[in-house]
This record gives sequence, C-alpha cells and structure tokens, in this order.
Amino acid sequence: MSDKISPPAVALGTWAWGDSGEAGDGYFGSSLTLDGLEELVTKAHACGFTFWDTARVYGMGRAETRLGQVLKRFPRGDYQLSTKFTPQAAGRDDDPVAEMLEQSLASLNTDIIDLYWIHNPADVMRWTPHLIPLLKSGKVKHVGVSNHSLDDLKRADQILGEAGFRVGAIQNHYSLLYRNPEHAGILAHSRTLGIPFFAYMVLEQGALTGRYGPANPLPTGSRRAEIYNGMLSRVEALTDKLTSIGKTHNAVAAEIAVAWAIAKGAVPIIGVTKPQHVGGLVRARDIALTGEEIADLEAVADAAQVNTRGWWEKEM
Ligand SMILES: NC(=O)c1ccc[n+]([C@@H]2O[C@H](COP(=O)([O-])OP(=O)(O)OC[C@H]3O[C@@H](n4cnc5c(N)ncnc54)[C@H](OP(=O)(O)O)[C@@H]3O)[C@@H](O)[C@H]2O)c1
Repeated sequence: MSDKISPPAVALGTWAWGDSGEAGDGYFGSSLTLDGLEELVTKAHACGFTFWDTARVYGMGRAETRLGQVLKRFPRGDYQLSTKFTPQAAGRDDDPVAEMLEQSLASLNTDIIDLYWIHNPADVMRWTPHLIPLLKSGKVKHVGVSNHSLDDLKRADQILGEAGFRVGAIQNHYSLLYRNPEHAGILAHSRTLGIPFFAYMVLEQGALTGRYGPANPLPTGSRRAEIYNGMLSRVEALTDKLTSIGKTHNAVAAEIAVAWAIAKGAVPIIGVTKPQHVGGLVRARDIALTGEEIADLEAVADAAQVNTRGWWEKEM
C-alpha cells in the first residue's frame, strides 16, 4: 500500500511553458525565455513552492524539457514532479503508459515521478491497470486521476485497490466560474476519503486575473483568446468583485481567486509564467477569506452565466 501524498498549499503548472514563443503559435500566446523561467523557479523555490505539474503533451514535450532544464541545478529531493499519461497520445509500444513515462523521465532528468496522472478517463478499464507495475517498480510514487467523473474515479480506485494501491489524488478544472466538480460531489468525496483535490485553471487561463478584460483582451491568435475573449464582458463584474475584495486584503484579483480555491479545500495548480506571479501566490497562501466574501464571489460568478468547460472535458 502506498503512503499518502503530502499536498502543497499551491502547486505550479507549466502548460503555458509548452508554447514555442513564436507569434500566433501556441495555446497561450506566451513567449517565455529560459532565463525568465529560471528566475521564476528560483523565486518559487525560495518561497516554498516546489510542487510542479506538467504533462508530456504540453507543447509535445517542450514544457517537460524546459522544466527539466530549469530544475537541474536543484537537488532532486528539493522538489516534487507531477506529469501525465494522455490516452489520446498513446504510442504503439506494448505498454504505451510505461513508454510515455520513460519519455517524461528523460525530459525531466529524473528517474522518479512523485505523482503520475491519467490525464482523462478515455478508457478507465484499459489504462488504469497500467499504473500498477509503475507503482510496483517505484518509478512512480503515487498515481492520480484527472478529469474523471465520480464514477470513473471510483472505478479507477477499485482497480488500483485490488492490487493494494489507491487513487492518491484528483485533478479537475475548478474555478469560481467552473464549480462542476463541487456540484458533482467530487470535492466532498475527496474530503471524505482524504484524497487531495488539485484544482486546475483556477485563474481561467488569465480571464480571472484582472489583467485582461474587454479593453485589454487575451493575446490575439492564441487559443485561450479564442475561448475567453468573447466572455470577458460577462466576467467583468466578477473581476471587479475580486479586485474590491482584494483591496481589503492588500491583494489583487488573481490572489483572491487563488485564495478562494484554497478556502474551498483545493490545492490550486497555478500556471505561473512570470517571476512576479510568485509574490502573488505568497500573499494568496496567507489570505483567509470570510464566509461572506466567498458567498459574494460565488453569487457574482454564477450571475456571469458563462460555461468555461474545456473542450477536453466531459460533463461531470
Ligand atoms: N489535467 C488537465 O486536464 C489540465 C488542464 C488544464 C491545466 N492543467 C494544469 O493546471 C495548470 C494551470 O492551468 P492553466 O495554466 O491552464 O491556467 P491558469 O492557471 O488558470 O492561468 C494561467 C495564466 O494566468 C496568468 N497567471 C498565472 N499566475 C498568475 C498570478 N499569480 N497572477 C496573475 N496572473 C497569473 C498567466 O497569464 P499571462 O502569462 O498572460 O500573464 C498564465 O498564463 C496548467 O499549467 C497545468 O499544469 C491541467
């Protein structure tokens, strides 16, 4: 039986690190340099943020390679790595899960992954058993399931349980604008069983940071702009509310959105792209929102009536 994961207060995500940096190419439209990422990682580690989330498919290996490069100068015991097997990108090897893991290990310059995820429930019965030999070999310390419904999650837990293991963590989209895992009972389930719930896209890829709005949309040509720019006018009341609550906590909108996720019992995975984002997370980690502030934020979020479910997610 594997021991339990010690979840961080906040994990750091690297999907945007997979962008090539060329204009119009990439999901985020971000142009990140290795120097900038090194500065970011140094600051993050100095502030105690040492849990990194990535996936083989982010930039088809580019995000993992960059993360491996910038973490190289830290002792391996100083940080934790979480990466993912994506069923849709499975190769033709006899064991495509083990094959993708080997690719991740090589890019990340490591021989162990602290938390290995099945990226989505494309075929729970087919892919979940492949995690068992990886756990037995010690190449993977813990396994988690992402984008799984409650039924998918229970099925995966049963398969692992028969081999003496368990689902060690859950990772789903969860933000003020997308509370479906809460409505579907997944958060309550994670609490009952003591399984950490990692929340991704807490900032809705920038739409909840207060930096972007109808007058200052997300980067033209990026996929996130296509998805969010048409919603920004309906989201403005929420970013205004985040900003006004932020003033009482000496914080900005993004920090309140992160503090909300923490208050709900989640471990937010924040897709940091700039060194200054780390300072924001230090503040967010220490903010205790009141019940009234949380209720206000959720009421304004619900009134926006936007659906930010990702194209890769199924209804919970
Ligand atoms: N399992 C899954 O299917 C899945 C799906 C999506 C994401 N994820 C994971 O979750 C992570 C987070 O999601 P995400 O990166 O898509 O979106 P996100 O965290 O909601 O937003 C990231 C964007 O917000 C801005 N930002 C980040 N930190 C900030 C801060 N402290 N203050 C102000 N602005 C900040 C940056 O925009 P600018 O660069 O424009 O400033 C960044 O590109 C991913 O990186 C990935 O590791 C997993």
